[in-house]
Amino acid sequence: MRSPQKKIKSNLEYLRKLFIMPESPDKFIEFGHELLEMIHDFFQEKGGIHSAITLPELARIFNQTCIPDEPMLIKDVLAEIKGKVIDHSVKVGSPYYIGHMISAIPYFMILLEMIIAALNQNQVKIETAKASSFVEREFVAWLHRLVFNRPERFYQRHMQNPKVALGNITSDGTLANLTALVVAREKAFPPTKNFPGARVVGIEKALEHYGYERAVIVVSTRGHYSLKKAAGLLGLGEQNVIEIPVDEFNRMDIKRLKRKLNHLQHDSGGKAKIMAIVGIAGTTETGNIDPLPELGSISREIGAHFHVDACWGGSALLVDEYKPMLRGIEQADSVSIDAHKLLYCPMAMGIVLFRSEKDLNLIKQTSRYIIRRNSVDTGRFTIEGSRPFSCLKPWAALKIIGREGYGLLFRKARESTFAMMNLLQEAETFEVLNTPELFIITYRFLPAHVKAQISEWMSLGRSRRKGKEPREALHRLRKTNHIINALNIKLHKALRLDDTTFVSRTTLESTRYRPQKIVVLRAVLINPLTDHQILKEIIGTQKRLGGKIWKEFEPAYQKIAG
Ligand SMILES: Cc1ncc(COP(=O)(O)O)c(C=O)c1O
Repeated sequence: MRSPQKKIKSNLEYLRKLFIMPESPDKFIEFGHELLEMIHDFFQEKGGIHSAITLPELARIFNQTCIPDEPMLIKDVLAEIKGKVIDHSVKVGSPYYIGHMISAIPYFMILLEMIIAALNQNQVKIETAKASSFVEREFVAWLHRLVFNRPERFYQRHMQNPKVALGNITSDGTLANLTALVVAREKAFPPTKNFPGARVVGIEKALEHYGYERAVIVVSTRGHYSLKKAAGLLGLGEQNVIEIPVDEFNRMDIKRLKRKLNHLQHDSGGKAKIMAIVGIAGTTETGNIDPLPELGSISREIGAHFHVDACWGGSALLVDEYKPMLRGIEQADSVSIDAHKLLYCPMAMGIVLFRSEKDLNLIKQTSRYIIRRNSVDTGRFTIEGSRPFSCLKPWAALKIIGREGYGLLFRKARESTFAMMNLLQEAETFEVLNTPELFIITYRFLPAHVKAQISEWMSLGRSRRKGKEPREALHRLRKTNHIINALNIKLHKALRLDDTTFVSRTTLESTRYRPQKIVVLRAVLINPLTDHQILKEIIGTQKRLGGKIWKEFEPAYQKIAG
């Protein structure tokens, strides 16, 4: 049994001591050691990916309704954090965890987080962030150059010029996308002599002034839900995010886009303003990339802001061999990238970049007490107010790991992706359902004989033959897919219970069974610690559990197959 916690009397002297570095470094270093050991243990610990505790049990642990009155000793709180939080955290860095856009992080990131906390700079203004403001501007310029590659003199002129900003550091990708779309709105409804601009009078009056009934954002059906949030916040309404279907490679279908744009601009009497077209460079569900060059020229043609949501894939530009994949990104008006994805930084930091140094001036805000009109404060250009010095992490990582290092990491990710594809094929009881580009595979458990049968039904159903037989084949195919969907949902739940490995799950309408929605397992293969043997174990577990569960579904399938 743990000894009862020592009570401490709150007095100002005690509190004062919490705010100053102890005169002897021993005390500080003692807690530091303890903390680092706790962190280290978390990484060393074997066992499941999610602790065995249930969600209701966790709710019971964290059920205090009142803020504690009496202070506790730091060491007691650390012990509580260990027992109640660390022990029940998800091991997202485990090499067996290949389900989300998250990975092991380099250990130096933890130390950089300490520096960030210790310096406690507030990037909003120069009075609270001196050198760190310049670091941020340098980092933004690096990425700007990586994406837009404007001439050296452009960067010499603007990177540290406080009158403009080439981009913002945001708290995440959602905020990066939102920032891009706020700018797009201002560009769509710019101020004139007798119109002060959308941000001043609101979207309703802006539409009225310019003679539109609605303003829309166009994206593919793979678009991230942050765009809908942005549309809601900007007053456009979520229903004005227009989703264009994708082809079987999960890329926006350009023909359908053109048809839709034509309809929006002409058939409905020209009453819709196409505010922005959003291309995706690495979709959340499948990692595929939209046809960016085509989207760029269409956007230019119709005068829409072209935003590329490269939250997932943008960092791939660091490595020359990935540049062709992202061709067209340089035509964007704005680009968002997440540092906590392929830059291997801890949660969370986004970046939004604008090709034109003038764009962020459209949303510039000033105030009398901070971010004054003639100040050099970064906060004049950001949606957020107070911001941490997060960019220290990717700034340092780009030095420590370097472009060469990122090249090796992405090569490793690609190798893992191919290795997993091969293992899935060899296992024979899986079907891969996308063509991976940026380290994401979507696939499903599908017994070999069912796979053969549904292929037969599909070729018969889609042949030019007329009559009952092809119709019947398609009907059977659809019904079997329903069964396989249910099987994969059950398999995913079983994998969660087993808890030795983790992949995620989604539902796609864009597979070869289009338009039928197919439940897929989703693997994101970016953890450099995931090796071939681990991938074998992951697939072995899925095959074993899938085979067991299939037995429950087999009779229903037999009825359909006859
Ligand atoms: C393509 C894409 N855009 C935007 C986001 C939103 O990023 P965040 O979760 O950092 O807000 C994500 C997150 O997964 C994403 O994959």
